[in-house]
Amino acid sequence: ALDQPYQHLGTLEFHRPHVSAEFGRALQAISSRSKPYFPLTVPYVGGREIDRGAKEVSINPAHPGDVVSEVINATSELVDEAVSAAMAALSDWSRTPIERRAGYLMEAARWMHDRRKEIAALEVLEAGKPWKEADADVVEAIDFCNYYAHEMVRLGKGVGLLSPKGEHNDMFYRPKGVAAVIGPWNFPLAIPTGMTVAALVAGNTVVLKPAEQTPATAKVLVDAFRAVGLPDGVLNFLPGPGEEVGAHLVRHKDVAVVAFTGSRSVGLEIIETASKWQKGQVHIKKVIAELGGKDAIIVDSDADLDQVVPGVIYSAFGFSGQKCSACSRLIVLRSSAEQVISRVIGAMDTLLVGDPQRPETDMGPLIDYASQQRLKYYSDMAQSQGEVATAKLAIPDEGYYVLPSVALELPKESPVLTEEIFGPLLAVEIAEDLEEAVWLANSTDYALTAGLFSRSPQNIEFIKNELLAGNIYINRHITGAVPGRHPFGGFKMSGIGSKSGGPDYLFQFLDPYVISENT
Ligand code: NAD
Ligand code: ALA
Repeated sequence: ALDQPYQHLGTLEFHRPHVSAEFGRALQAISSRSKPYFPLTVPYVGGREIDRGAKEVSINPAHPGDVVSEVINATSELVDEAVSAAMAALSDWSRTPIERRAGYLMEAARWMHDRRKEIAALEVLEAGKPWKEADADVVEAIDFCNYYAHEMVRLGKGVGLLSPKGEHNDMFYRPKGVAAVIGPWNFPLAIPTGMTVAALVAGNTVVLKPAEQTPATAKVLVDAFRAVGLPDGVLNFLPGPGEEVGAHLVRHKDVAVVAFTGSRSVGLEIIETASKWQKGQVHIKKVIAELGGKDAIIVDSDADLDQVVPGVIYSAFGFSGQKCSACSRLIVLRSSAEQVISRVIGAMDTLLVGDPQRPETDMGPLIDYASQQRLKYYSDMAQSQGEVATAKLAIPDEGYYVLPSVALELPKESPVLTEEIFGPLLAVEIAEDLEEAVWLANSTDYALTAGLFSRSPQNIEFIKNELLAGNIYINRHITGAVPGRHPFGGFKMSGIGSKSGGPDYLFQFLDPYVISENT
């Protein structure tokens, strides 16, 4: 409830047999349906499902022949209709009292909570997420709804200003207008939800374009808001190709704010497109762009290896390394390098790589064939420039699997050390001392997450001051930020925008105004 403080929803305790059994049943119920599991994902514009147009499919990356959902793609014309519908709904929605808007978010969160296992099961099938990762994504989506609902109520109280005798001053916030939300596939519910509900609760109306790989999962958000009676036109949904639907949406003259999470190249293109004035446009478009990372963990010479090894393995290979926050560089001090590297490589061999439908799977497939090819490209490069240790594991014949690997002895300028690879290839660098380790960690275009394992309070303090990253984690894994606890986001080439799940995120969807009244 809004009068109670926001609280993070815990993840499922899969080690409890009854929890695991219930989740297994939810997954079984979906996967035993005749295919496609989710018959049709369609655009939703102005309160209407649009069931005409060219069909695409989303597939299960563990079994690429299995269609998860048929999808009707939006077109540029439908983008225009969706933005018109969002414009038409704006006046009433922006005047809807904040508590009521926040109430819709809380109710949508409850709707998702009631179906959390079914939604996570869908993610297992459409995104190839292992159970724990799928559940965490649903939890984060629910957290975003509850957190931003509370935040908007706080901001709605206004900001007290200095008011000298005879004058009263106040600052308030107005929604910007129509928000275009463009999301990635790797957190297929949480990330679109975070951007969408922040825009909505701030009083904007939204046109949401999900990633091509995971439209059925993103559609759950629309289903949640339809179920709780969100007025027509306030949230519109346009599955479709980024280059057509996404690009047209960004260009549209009536879009006031673009909230994007995805790759560096698309983010930069969006920033450029949005900066160009279109005929009839009456505002400067605001772009929020949360982009990639090349995230490092530093292991100090006195670190507890029983903490380091699981922390590094999970950060690098959780969800097959397909997180912007994933550890892709391991920086170890020469004095302990041999021991750390051999333990990390040894632990890699204990991972269970396979179908994410199985409860014990640690690492499922990559999202698509292009990703599998990209990993092969970088792995071949690492092999030719240095050495690669690949886990001695079997992988299924079918599906976009790639074995976890560690790349060693790379030249400093190797693209394996500098470019975001987005998969289970961890590059190791050796530093002579902690100063050099920090220098290496900071020698990247990106600044998203970073970590340190150390038992030295002095070294921890040094790192806190010197490491350049939006989220720095000490003696733990570097993924899995929780809204309200670990506001998330980076700087440098990792993006522009304040932190999602943090106290200044909503400001990005609002225009402040001040009223000064002589009394
Ligand atoms: P992507 O950039 O390929 O696609 C993201 C979205 O942009 C998709 O919906 C796509 O259809 C759309 N798109 C593509 N071209 C477009 C265009 N020209 N105009 C408008 N929209 C367009 O990214 P992805 O592969 O879906 O996601 C992986 C990337 O996302 C990685 O780089 C990862 O680091 C990043 N990411 C960042 C964060 C963060 O919070 N910083 C979180 C998750 C993922
Ligand atoms: N918010 C996601 C994480 O922290 C990207 O892993």
